[in-house]
Amino acid sequence: MDFTFSEEQLAVRNAARDFANAELLPGVIERDETQTFPKEQIKKLGELGFMGMMVSAKYNGSGMDTVSYVLAMEEISKIDASASVCMSVNNSLVCWGLEQYGSEAQKQKYLTRLASGEIIGAFCLSEPEAGSDATSQRTTAVDMGDHYLVNGTKNWITNGGTASVYLVIAQTHTEKGHKGINALIIEKGAPGFVIGRKENKLGIRGSDTHSLMFDNVKVMKENRIGDDGFGFTFAMSTLNGGRIGIAAQALGIASGAYELAKKYALERKSFGVAIAQHQAIQFKLAEMATQIDAARLLCLKAAYLKDQHLDYSEASAMAKLFSSKVAMDVTIEAVQIHGGYGFVKEFHVERLMRDAKITQIYEGTSEIQKIVISRSILKK
Ligand code: CAA
Repeated sequence: MDFTFSEEQLAVRNAARDFANAELLPGVIERDETQTFPKEQIKKLGELGFMGMMVSAKYNGSGMDTVSYVLAMEEISKIDASASVCMSVNNSLVCWGLEQYGSEAQKQKYLTRLASGEIIGAFCLSEPEAGSDATSQRTTAVDMGDHYLVNGTKNWITNGGTASVYLVIAQTHTEKGHKGINALIIEKGAPGFVIGRKENKLGIRGSDTHSLMFDNVKVMKENRIGDDGFGFTFAMSTLNGGRIGIAAQALGIASGAYELAKKYALERKSFGVAIAQHQAIQFKLAEMATQIDAARLLCLKAAYLKDQHLDYSEASAMAKLFSSKVAMDVTIEAVQIHGGYGFVKEFHVERLMRDAKITQIYEGTSEIQKIVISRSILKK
């Protein structure tokens, strides 16, 4: 088994690390406090090729592998998880879904601009009454011949206010259950499409999360992704890859907190020595480092399987389940190591602890990952 990265993968990791330190670190505390979306930084990420990392060059993407994507997500998330969720949704849910399942016309019209970062996209599955139970879509797309009329509400949509293109999951044939669901591309500004309030969140406060309302929004059939009734399979299949992105985000939050805690432990003195000399702290750091390494291996395994075109649904759910737990555990310990300083904003770890929580909720809660994993292992 080869654990070394290629020169290209290392270059991607270094570029993401440099960008995060130079462009995202300044102002990250203020953006969290004021709930400010990192608009300029996301634009620059697009210029560097980080918004369409796995899209082929033919559609303005960077043509990189999923392993490189994991490495970049970890580095960006160490510093700013609000920026990295925007990056993750655009890369894994929007661009990947469109390249994999979109028509050539859809790719030319939308993917080329999404992959270059000229515009960003949103993935709209969750509803007020359909979060984990994603088959219970209440948003409807009524078939009107050459177009659909979309009505309903979507909740907690990442990039909800800043996106230009929305992939919206809606029910067309109620009697067919999940086989009657469609995925439609809706542009910002479509008559009847209203962007609702911005959520005031515990963590990833710089990310732009909104509810969305659709009131008789006309969507031409050419904007449906795949065949009639393909929408649920589209969503599930896209989420398998999305979970790799969020697992890598959780990994980055954990490793960012760990690096800060280690640095602090080497500098901070108590009882006449650096606190890293105390076994109580050493045990914590050893546990954190081991958890992070295990999470990284699961993320890379899922990415590797995806790159090899092998089944990665179980691996991505395992990576997300484990990495998000590690993100919680490690950030709590990082705050503890910092003591009183960990409880104030200047030391960053309290923010990382708040940011960690969402990784156990979005793109499927930890309980959903366990459902995906248990169904997969029991089938074997
Ligand atoms: N990969 C591929 N296909 C899958 C799948 C997966 N991981 N999970 C389910 N499916 C398929 C099944 O094979 C089945 O297809 P067939 O009928 O053709 O056999 C179909 O989907 C229905 O599956 P189930 O009967 O298993 O459906 P269910 O209702 O019992 O459960 C579920 C499905 C796994 C719980 C699913 O509803 C789920 O994943 N829920 C969580 C939804 C989620 O992750 N939401 C996140 C919102 S997006 C977001 O957070 C983005 C953001 O802003 C950051």
